[in-house]
Amino acid sequence: MKLNFRIGMPLLVLSLLALAQAPALAEEPAAPPYTVAEGNNVDAKTFEGWKTWRAMACERCHGPNQEGLVGPSLVNSLKVLTKEQFVTTVTNGRPEKGMPNFGGIQSVVDNINNLYAYLKGRSDGAIKPGHVHKIAE
Ligand code: HEC
Repeated sequence: MKLNFRIGMPLLVLSLLALAQAPALAEEPAAPPYTVAEGNNVDAKTFEGWKTWRAMACERCHGPNQEGLVGPSLVNSLKVLTKEQFVTTVTNGRPEKGMPNFGGIQSVVDNINNLYAYLKGRSDGAIKPGHVHKIAE
């Protein structure tokens, strides 16, 4: 019994400490999904996102600088939309409102996280408008 208490107490204290720390950890802001270096150089995934944006000509409706045309400004939208809402909107579209669905296009499905990373970087003001380049490895 004595031994159990001596091992049990510190364990209990440790578990309580761990529990107390948990909320603090949860509140830590998530790291951005992109990396930008000097001169609009971005990580390889964000670069793929930009290429997907270009290949799909999203700019026809959202503008070359993502600031809106017939479609809304995605610089503004990505401040509000969750990532899940972004993925749902691009995948399913909103056909009745003029937003096509891209869920049937494999390169968009494969690059949806990368597309989000690029647009989030634009929305955060971390990535400048226009051409981006891949950070040299
Ligand atoms: C033919 C025009 C058109 C094209 C091309 C287009 N969009 Fe859209 N998009 C729209 C319109 C219009 C809306 C607004 C729909 C509404 O009113 O809810 C929209 C809405 C969105 C939204 C939701 C914005 C919000 O605030 O709710 C996202 C995200 C989005 N588009 C991303 C994209 C991406 C990424 C591409 C390229 C893969 C793309 N769009 C291509 C017309 C387009």
